Amino acid sequence: MDAKTHLPDAQTITQVTHWTDRLFSFRVTRPQSLRFRSGEFVMIGLMGDNGKPLLRAYSIASPAWDDELEFYSIKVPDGPLTSRLQHIKVGDEIILRPKPVGTLVHDALLPGKRMWFLATGTGLAPFASLMREPESYEKYDQLIMMHTCREMAELEYGRQLVESLKDDPLIGELVDNKLLYYPTTTREKFHHMGRITDNLTSGKVFTDLGLPVMNCNEDRAMVCGSLAFNLEVKNILEQFGLTEGANSNPQQFVVEKAFVGDGI
Ligand code: FAD
Ligand code: A2P
Repeated sequence: MDAKTHLPDAQTITQVTHWTDRLFSFRVTRPQSLRFRSGEFVMIGLMGDNGKPLLRAYSIASPAWDDELEFYSIKVPDGPLTSRLQHIKVGDEIILRPKPVGTLVHDALLPGKRMWFLATGTGLAPFASLMREPESYEKYDQLIMMHTCREMAELEYGRQLVESLKDDPLIGELVDNKLLYYPTTTREKFHHMGRITDNLTSGKVFTDLGLPVMNCNEDRAMVCGSLAFNLEVKNILEQFGLTEGANSNPQQFVVEKAFVGDGI
């Protein structure tokens, strides 16, 4: 009998792209019943050797209106899930629990003028969804996508996505005027360099983009990276006068971990 038919909540892989030896993205069929807000995450995985599902949290990188679901993933060499998940091919099945949750949603923020998406590494994923979400452009005059990785190759998924938005029939025209993309590297020479934290505190990003320094009246932010990154950015945003919010208490910025680090 075909083992595939035994997977609970099975979805079929429709596309896989490898970006570097540490990063890949893939698309899967979308359960008909699945409703989510752009920016949320779900549990996905594979069946473990012990016959139990091996699941991990993954931000949905596609927008809520898309027919399929997209994910952007790390490859951890010894990672229980991604050491196997990195080998998936079109036609394979994964498990997807259709219970989306998360704090990186528009509902968790008070209205504002500018929205800052601040991400390192795979923390880009929720913003890959939100940058394709029409509501992002309806709610804000400007969106600023700051994404930082060690090397240029690690920025490529985000770069191509931003590039493709200009031709998107749904939001192409909005994006042209409203989305400011500010990618930086920290360990390879590039036209813009430096950690997001440093570019915010030095004011370089505001000068480069011709924007006023962040303030609580006009600016809103969503943050997604390692725990250390999130904590540093949270402190910086608070120094700019912004207050952290949540679904139950909308404020001026929200934070979500891109992964749970070793020992945390
Ligand atoms: P794990 O045992 O889960 O992790 C092993 C170690 O690898 C971790 O201790 C950590 O040091 C490192 N690590 C794990 N994930 C990452 C990462 N993304 N970037 C850098 N280092 C990492 N991962 C994604 O690739 N894409 C996502 O969209 C994504 N969304 C997430 C959303 C939330 C809310 C959370 C909590 C985690 C998310 N993760 C995401 C991480 C994901 O859940 C897994 O940790 C990851 O897929 C690795 O699984 P694993 O079983 O191979 O290794
Ligand atoms: P750096 O190269 O200076 O460490 P990683 O690949 O380790 O997940 O890091 C992804 C990106 O996030 C890197 O460019 C890294 O910069 C940056 N980074 C890591 N930790 C922090 C932090 N605490 N604050 C700001 N940026 C960080």
